[in-house]
Amino acid sequence: MLRIKLFPGAHDFLSLAQGSFDPKGPVARGMAELWWVMVAISVVVFLIVLVALWYAAFRRRDAVAESKTDDVSLSPSRWIVWGGVVMPLVVLTVIFALTLSAMRSITPSLPSDPVVIEVVGNQWWWEIRYEGHEFATANEIHLPVGEPVEIRLTSADVIHSFWVPNLGGKMDALPDYENSLVLQADEPGDYRGQCAEFCGLQHAKMGILAIARPRAEFDEWLAAQALPAREPSGALEMRGRDVFLEAGCPQCHTIRGTSANGDTGPDLTHVAARQTLAAVTIPNTPEHLSNWIADPDSVKSGTEMDPSPLGKEELEALTAYLGALR
Ligand code: CUA
Repeated sequence: MLRIKLFPGAHDFLSLAQGSFDPKGPVARGMAELWWVMVAISVVVFLIVLVALWYAAFRRRDAVAESKTDDVSLSPSRWIVWGGVVMPLVVLTVIFALTLSAMRSITPSLPSDPVVIEVVGNQWWWEIRYEGHEFATANEIHLPVGEPVEIRLTSADVIHSFWVPNLGGKMDALPDYENSLVLQADEPGDYRGQCAEFCGLQHAKMGILAIARPRAEFDEWLAAQALPAREPSGALEMRGRDVFLEAGCPQCHTIRGTSANGDTGPDLTHVAARQTLAAVTIPNTPEHLSNWIADPDSVKSGTEMDPSPLGKEELEALTAYLGALR
């Protein structure tokens, strides 16, 4: 199993297995199986070519030297017909048929009322919306286990590519055209994904976390996300909300239930309910959150988020407020 460990002691989500050889759903499995069959066929063809090469280099010379007669069983024209026409035709036909059947598994028929998730690529994060619901979230895609889920992809700027290898295929997110793909997870789990099309400075830190949960838990999550932001409790959090509203954060971020309704950065209404920050770059802990707000460039250089010239007390209050937005 391919395991990505970015640095020793990394948080769990950074070391999640991320690979198409370890399929965790029928869509990914269809592709992995096709890949292995193609590898097996390629190995057989390669071995046949090696044997033929060996035969051409040595056998014929020996035969000619020993008997002065050409005892090679196949004439050159037969070699061309069998090796150059018949064999490729058979191999390619078999692969074509297998590909067609794999394509069917990649686009399984959706239930009559499928979960449809609209994903928009941004430099360098993902906006996520659920059809039929008003809320927006970012970077972490929740889906119900065992159900094919439709992902509709677009981009707000350049071309990105959406890829959660353990669950499904790779698909471009384009600015002016909607692409779609299907993901399905067999079992509950967190599956890391990645933007797979170079899209600028922080392409490598444009991660995705697909979070598959049993249907009841998924529905609970949906209902919680649809609520407006939790009211601050206590003086520190109240102060934090004031800091948030006055420090320029609302120019880019929305927190439903407050006057903040910016739309160029991730919606923060339930930011504390996410496991990660900065597009699956850092764990969502108070220390990382505070550091990310104070000096975003040190976490993700080139990020569109400006550093906040906040005092220690303001930063502490802001972190307490955002950290409570579950
Ligand atoms: Cu977005 Cu690479």
